Amino acid sequence: MAHNPSSLLEAAARARGGAYAPYSNFAVGAALAAVDGRVFTGANIENASYGLSMCAERVAFFAAVTAGVRTFEAIAVAGPEGTQTTPCGACRQVLVEFGVNLKIVTASPSGPVTRTIGTLLPDAFSPKTLEDAR
Ligand code: THU
Repeated sequence: MAHNPSSLLEAAARARGGAYAPYSNFAVGAALAAVDGRVFTGANIENASYGLSMCAERVAFFAAVTAGVRTFEAIAVAGPEGTQTTPCGACRQVLVEFGVNLKIVTASPSGPVTRTIGTLLPDAFSPKTLEDAR
């Protein structure tokens, strides 16, 4: 990939610094690489009304989509040191919107692991599901 997994994971780890996570104390950062080379970052933002908290992945994804970007290569996710933080179910559904080939880069004891969103969310509900019903 244009951005290698290690450097994208480092960008995600840096983005963790922007987290607002006073309730869980579990800061997460995400770095989303667009095909055009731009990288959009996000961090989790919690709320006193806990259920309104937003994950790092969706903050990054929504920023990129707002900027007009629709083609993505990879997203790296970094949680606290030593954890293997993978996208939650809600984020997987959001991330699959533009295709099943988006790469998901996460940390592991043996270094960055890369899988596709299609692997992490098989048989996803997608735009095609809606098209097929029309
Ligand atoms: N969180 C993320 O931002 N991304 C993930 O992949 C997993 C969970 C956040 C949500 C909440 O603010 C905190 O981590 C603990 O669940």
